[in-house]
Amino acid sequence: MKKLWQGRFTAHGEEWLNDFGASIGFDYQMALEDVQGSLAHVKMLARCQIITEEDKKLIEQGLIEIKESIEADTFDYLPEHEDIHLNIEQALHQKIGPVAGKLHTARSRNDQVATDMHLYLKKSVQSLIAELHSLQTTLVKKAEENTDTLMPGYTHLQHAQPISFGHHLLAYYQMFCRDKERLAESIKRIDISPLGSAALAGTTFPINREYTAELLGFSSVYDNSLDGVSDRDFILEFLSDASILMMHLSRLCEEIILWTSHEFQFIELSDQYSTGSSIMPQKKNPDYAELIRGKTGRVYANLFGLLTVLKGLPLAYNKDLQEDKEGMFDTVATLTLSLKAMKGMLETMTVNKEKMYESTNQDFSNATELADYLATKGIPFRQAHEIVGKLVLSCIQKGIYLQDIDLKTYQEIEPSISEEIYQFLDSRNAMNRRTSHGGTSSSEVAKMIAKAWQELQ
Ligand code: ARG
Repeated sequence: MKKLWQGRFTAHGEEWLNDFGASIGFDYQMALEDVQGSLAHVKMLARCQIITEEDKKLIEQGLIEIKESIEADTFDYLPEHEDIHLNIEQALHQKIGPVAGKLHTARSRNDQVATDMHLYLKKSVQSLIAELHSLQTTLVKKAEENTDTLMPGYTHLQHAQPISFGHHLLAYYQMFCRDKERLAESIKRIDISPLGSAALAGTTFPINREYTAELLGFSSVYDNSLDGVSDRDFILEFLSDASILMMHLSRLCEEIILWTSHEFQFIELSDQYSTGSSIMPQKKNPDYAELIRGKTGRVYANLFGLLTVLKGLPLAYNKDLQEDKEGMFDTVATLTLSLKAMKGMLETMTVNKEKMYESTNQDFSNATELADYLATKGIPFRQAHEIVGKLVLSCIQKGIYLQDIDLKTYQEIEPSISEEIYQFLDSRNAMNRRTSHGGTSSSEVAKMIAKAWQELQ
């Protein structure tokens, strides 16, 4: 098969070597972006009188037909044509003959591939932001249903203080807000056109880079042609934002996995979002949560992979850069599915409010309440802390909780203690008294929810 660059060659590598060098196996995913870039380029060439209006029409017509076959999934991607750019150019040759050769005037695959990736990533990040937004909507809905649902709040995975389950979910809402912000902000650096940088040094043809940028919907153009063809920061930034986002999803997954366990029984996942075991008939496994947690590893790997590819690369284009794509495609696909699966899991889960509540009553998570209460009676907090610590120890020995201690015993510690102490020991009251900004009281959580709905509008 004749190669588009074969002029100075007298021999070809064998097929396996050709396959080794090819990227069509994955860069076909930017086929539409490639056509889009070519359509803008050919328009510009005609407008700048580099090619005739007639040639432009012919090329445009051919490209549109190619676009239609890509959309209809009938386009043949051939490994012997190495990558998506050469595949499309060859197809154009077949359609319109030698005029097709004029399309590559004042252009190189180096600025072409960079343009495709900028287009692809801009579109993908925008759609990921929409997915994230939709997951946040589900989180806030669930938080709203659980403003009053008590659960143990943890530090060191030990019961710490009673909190609202809604409050807990809203913490994830906040993480996703930051993720969304990061992704949205990164678009500024994706939204730049490298087209017209040509191979590395620009071109002698009187091109108009601003015009192609405008046609492609880019906000600006790279100011340095070397940078235009060799910059992959925008992908690195995406992978790093994606890694942080996956880490957040993974933390939530870990909690879901814990909460569905027999030991916790705080939630139950729906049948659609669980799987069974081929040997143990009773099993209902949180596979998708585990899978998201596991897939976080590959997203990190994609980030580290590209960082390593770029480290030590001299300017400008090097074939190493072909290794920038699989990790990007993989991350977009992984994130899209992970966000969808997370949303579905949350939407269809059953919250076992009773079990969560019980769990806040069979523990010592009201110990801080007692210490605070003693402090209001004039006992210095450090001393109150010590007293409560001793009470907890004696309760453990007796197999009771702080709310089971009788009033007389409390009055021996401090005579002014009255019946009201039991109000302080009540876990719901403990939660609702935390009315500081961002605290776990139902009133604060309701405020957070109202604010979240506003933000999500
Ligand atoms: N398939 C190549 C890539 O992904 C396209 C650019 C090729 N440029 C070149 N000079 N070989 O990077």
